[in-house]
Amino acid sequence: MFTKSEIIEILKDDSKNEWLFALADKIRRDNVGDSVHLRGLIEFSNICRCSCKYCGLRSSNKKINRYRILKDELLHYAKSAVKMGYKTLVLQSGEDVYYTTDKLTEIIREIKKFDVALTLSVGERSFEDYKAFKEAGADRYLIRIETTDRNLYSKMHPNMSFDNRIKCLKDLKVLGYEVGTGCLVGLPEQTYESLADDILFFKEIGADMVGIGPFIPHPDTPLKDENKGSFILALKVMALTRTMLPDINIPATTAMETLNPNGRIIALQSGANVVMPNVTTSEYREKYEIYPNKICIHENPDKCRDCISSKIQSIGRTISTNYGFSHNKE
Ligand code: 5AD
Ligand code: FES
Repeated sequence: MFTKSEIIEILKDDSKNEWLFALADKIRRDNVGDSVHLRGLIEFSNICRCSCKYCGLRSSNKKINRYRILKDELLHYAKSAVKMGYKTLVLQSGEDVYYTTDKLTEIIREIKKFDVALTLSVGERSFEDYKAFKEAGADRYLIRIETTDRNLYSKMHPNMSFDNRIKCLKDLKVLGYEVGTGCLVGLPEQTYESLADDILFFKEIGADMVGIGPFIPHPDTPLKDENKGSFILALKVMALTRTMLPDINIPATTAMETLNPNGRIIALQSGANVVMPNVTTSEYREKYEIYPNKICIHENPDKCRDCISSKIQSIGRTISTNYGFSHNKE
């Protein structure tokens, strides 16, 4: 457990990196063990009403080919992922208003028939919506705070409210979801202090999952000429998060692997215990371009599961066969 000033010192000082990564790896092993949870990710719509400055799916990006996967096709991907052995599915999309409360609850109910844990990641919705999704069977919800620096938050998110983002996280907690949040590392003007605040925020909000990734500039966004985030700094924020929240679930994110060819495995050895392979086909993967050079866009679901499973086993870790709730709540 570190104080804010210690966190800042560690973030600034690269001479202690190996110590930090080994410490996070040990804390991960002692608290959540050696098994890695695989979550099957279904990116079901890249249509988004928001215009986050960093994101390739932003509504003002007219260059992207938009798609929506409708219920039957979505259920097909869900079913095949469960057959492949996934115990958790993650439904992720842009903030697409087509998926009304009724449409989403219907999909949730159908998927829950497959005996699988279900995570939603569909952005900011009302308390009533979150309640309806929970009642339909959703178990978890991911909504990154992105940055806890209010000023930076408002620069990055035109027409969005930091306070509403916090409200969403609190509503989800009240409703009994396992709540995942996280941040981007390397946004323009982001400071070490604000990254330390992000880590402390994860603890304060009682996050059950925290996803951290480096910022990667997208050519069709206003941030196209900015520097990309540092892989090592993102890894340090992730490792520090593990030291502060020992028993949560932490994914080795796709953005980490985009900046380093072995990024997910390095992350798994520096505090992470979850990987989220994509379970849709390449026609959609290449269109879900949040940032450029995303990995696996030409692969299929079987290939990714085999590929990541063998990498995980090659470092002496196992693939979990349970639902992978946080805090060892099996
Ligand atoms: N680089 C890295 N991550 C990004 N995200 C969005 N745009 C980018 C980018 N350019 C992340 C956000 C979002 C998640 C789904 O993807 O943190 O919450
Ligand atoms: Fe997709 Fe390796 S995880 S090819």
